Amino acid sequence: MDDLSPNETAPPNEEEFTRWYLDRMDTFHAKVAAEKCGGEIRRAFHTKTIAGARATFTPAENRPPELRVGIGAADGSLDAYIRFSSGQCFARPDHVPDTRGIAVKLLGVAGDPLPGTPSGVQDLLAISNDLHSIRDGQQFANMSLLAPSFFASSFQVWKYTGLSGGLRIGAGFLKIAREGRKSLPSSAYFGMAPISFGDVPAKICFVPLSVGRTKHVRPGKDALSKNLLRHLLAGPLEWELRVQLFIDDATTPVEDLTVCWDRAASPFLPLGTLRLHQVASAEDFAANAQAVEGLAFSPWNGLACHRPLGSVQRIRRWAYKQSAERRGASACPI
Ligand code: HEM
Repeated sequence: MDDLSPNETAPPNEEEFTRWYLDRMDTFHAKVAAEKCGGEIRRAFHTKTIAGARATFTPAENRPPELRVGIGAADGSLDAYIRFSSGQCFARPDHVPDTRGIAVKLLGVAGDPLPGTPSGVQDLLAISNDLHSIRDGQQFANMSLLAPSFFASSFQVWKYTGLSGGLRIGAGFLKIAREGRKSLPSSAYFGMAPISFGDVPAKICFVPLSVGRTKHVRPGKDALSKNLLRHLLAGPLEWELRVQLFIDDATTPVEDLTVCWDRAASPFLPLGTLRLHQVASAEDFAANAQAVEGLAFSPWNGLACHRPLGSVQRIRRWAYKQSAERRGASACPI
């Protein structure tokens, strides 16, 4: 399927498993659309759009030399589209605990694209919980098909993970439940799975600069969206994009996401600032959400020097493509 980079290793059944999963995901996608989305094919996961925004990414003057590759080599600011989502495969009220996603589409990016990717685009995807519960692509994929039912997930998780893995995933659920109503502007977002910075594997995160302390929103169907609107009517919001670099296979493994990369050994380094633009009205805010609905975000929409790494990323390559094709989404804004 894919050529592996030097830090990757694939299980012997990976190709066969990926085919099986894509087939299952297709059936799952159609079933969830029919039963939970009024027959409309939307994203297979992260289905609810909480908000969209326009933004600018500006590389930091003081970014270290090892990050001056790809988007880190940009000599000026880049325009971006942003989508905030909830992780579940159908829309639920915002007070139901869930992991929240941020998807960033940087435009006007210079460099060779990954094969099959339009040029000039770099997508960055991250979620609002720093989770290390799921080990690899096959665990992630198996778990994803249990997503619609909390009870199914709780009872079946063991068969994919064993006892210690099940306990780890249970702890991950508790963390999500605890952090469930964190406001979007006060949340940090973590890329979880590695991408490349040139020849070096790396992980990304977005750290909030405008709202430092974690704030929670009141219960409500669209509470997260309304809270973000209030912030964006008052002014722009900023996050610092940070990058953590690979050291060695033991400290910073590419294939095992249960190992939290040691932040003392490899601290997150500043790459630049993502600034969400202020909006003039609730109508403008709604139009931004509409604009990102038909966009396709994927870690594989990007530059060859930011190639995604590891089994989770390898299976995501085909899963995002299939989901985007089913709903007729495009990697570039029209
Ligand atoms: C085997 C692992 C995974 C699979 C199979 C998977 C699958 C998917 C699919 C099919 C979509 C919808 C794509 C579309 O229709 O455009 C999606 C969306 C998303 N996923 Fe994953 N995913 C996986 C792991 C992850 C991980 C590790 C993260 C952490 C950053 C993540 C974050 C997101 C986000 C933020 C979105 C929303 C993107 C958007 O706004 O369009 N996923 N995922």
